[in-house]
Amino acid sequence: EERVNVGEFARMIGREPAEVIKKLFMLGIVATINQDIDFDAATLIASEYGIEVEKKVVINEVEFETIEEQDDPASLVPRPPVVTVMGHVDHGKTTLLDAIRKTRVAAQEAGGITQHIGAYQVELDGRFITFLDTPGHEAFTAMRARGAKVTDIVVLVVAADDGVMPQTLEALSHARDAGVPIIVAVNKIDKPDANPDRVKQELAEHGLIPEEWGGDTIFVHVSALRHQGIDELLEMILLVAEMRELRANPNKRARGTVIEAKLDRGRGPVATVLVQNGTLKVGDALVVGTIYGRVRSMHDHLGRRLTEAGPSTPVEITGLEDVPEAGDAFMVFEDDAKAKQIAEERALKKREQELKKKHVSLDELFSQIQ
Ligand code: GTP
Ligand code: MG
Repeated sequence: EERVNVGEFARMIGREPAEVIKKLFMLGIVATINQDIDFDAATLIASEYGIEVEKKVVINEVEFETIEEQDDPASLVPRPPVVTVMGHVDHGKTTLLDAIRKTRVAAQEAGGITQHIGAYQVELDGRFITFLDTPGHEAFTAMRARGAKVTDIVVLVVAADDGVMPQTLEALSHARDAGVPIIVAVNKIDKPDANPDRVKQELAEHGLIPEEWGGDTIFVHVSALRHQGIDELLEMILLVAEMRELRANPNKRARGTVIEAKLDRGRGPVATVLVQNGTLKVGDALVVGTIYGRVRSMHDHLGRRLTEAGPSTPVEITGLEDVPEAGDAFMVFEDDAKAKQIAEERALKKREQELKKKHVSLDELFSQIQ
C-alpha cells in the first residue's frame, strides 16, 4: 500500500506540516510529522489545495550493504546490455518489443514456446541484448524508487505521425535522472503522414541532437508493425553498449534484481530475476529482499530449463519461501544457514524501520496541532 510521510508530503505540496496535520485531524486522522498517511488521505488533502497526487512506490529497501565486494578488473568480461523501452502511450512500445522478439527470437527458435517472464534476450551475430519486457516509465521509476539499477540503455519510442508528447518528455527526464544513454526509435515511419524530421526537431529542442545534425544522439527509423529497421536498432544498441564497456564477473556467486514475481498455484512463488553479476545456479541458497530461498528450477524466456545463468540473463526461478517485489535485490550465499541468517537479519531490520516510522510521541503530536 502506498504511504507518504506527513512532513515530506507537506514539503511536496508547499505547506507547513502543522497546517497539514490540522487538516488531517479535521478528517479524523491523527498523525504526527513523522508518521505516514495513506494515498487516499494524501489525495484528499492535496485536492483542497488544487493539487493532484500521483501514486509512487515507497522506498523501504534494506541494502545488502555490509556485503559489498570489489571485482578484480582481470575477472571482468563483457556482458549484454539491459534495455528498457519507453515512450508516449500508443507510440508502439509493445509492438516494438514484439517485433524485436519475433524477428530475433522466434526465427532462431522455430517451434519454441515463448512465454512471458518479464524480460527476454535476443541475439544478433553472436552478441546478446536483454530487453525488459515491461514497457513504460512506470516500471522503470518504480524500480528506481526502490533503489534498483537495472537498465543500461533506454530506447525512446516516438511515433513519427504524432511527434513528441508529454510522456515522451517524462520518459526522457527519467532516463536523464538515471544517467543512462538514450537511443531514439522513430516509429510508424510506414504511415503516410509520418514526419521523422519533426520528431528530430522537437527532440533537439530538448537536447537530444541527432548525430547527422552534429549531436550525439542516435535516431533509428523503424516500423514496429512492418518489422522494418529492427536489426539496425539492435546494431545501434550494441554500438552504444560497446562504448559503455559493460562488464561483469561470471565466476562468483550471483546478485541481481527481481523484475516481477507472482504466486503460482502449482509451483509456489515464481520470480523473474535479472542476474547482474556472477552466475546463478540451480541449488543456490539466496536471499531475495527479506525472503530466503533455494533455487529449485530455472527457465529462460523460451521455457528452456537452465542449470545456470550468467550476467545480464533474465531467468524465471522457483524455490523462494515467499513472493518478492519487483525491484527487490537478491544475493546468493555460500550455504543455507548463511542465507537464512541474512534473510532473518534483513527482515528484522525492515520491521525495525517500519516501527520507527510508526512510533507516536504524544508530546510531538500536541505541540504540532496547536
Ligand atoms: P501503450 O502500452 O498503451 O502505452 O501503447 P504502446 O506504446 O505499447 O503502443 P502499441 O504497441 O500498443 O501500439 C499502439 C498502436 O499503434 C497499435 O494499434 C499498433 O498496431 C500501432 N502501431 C505500432 N507500431 C506501428 C507502426 O510501426 N506502424 C503503424 N502503422 N502502426 C503501428
Ligand atoms: Mg503497450
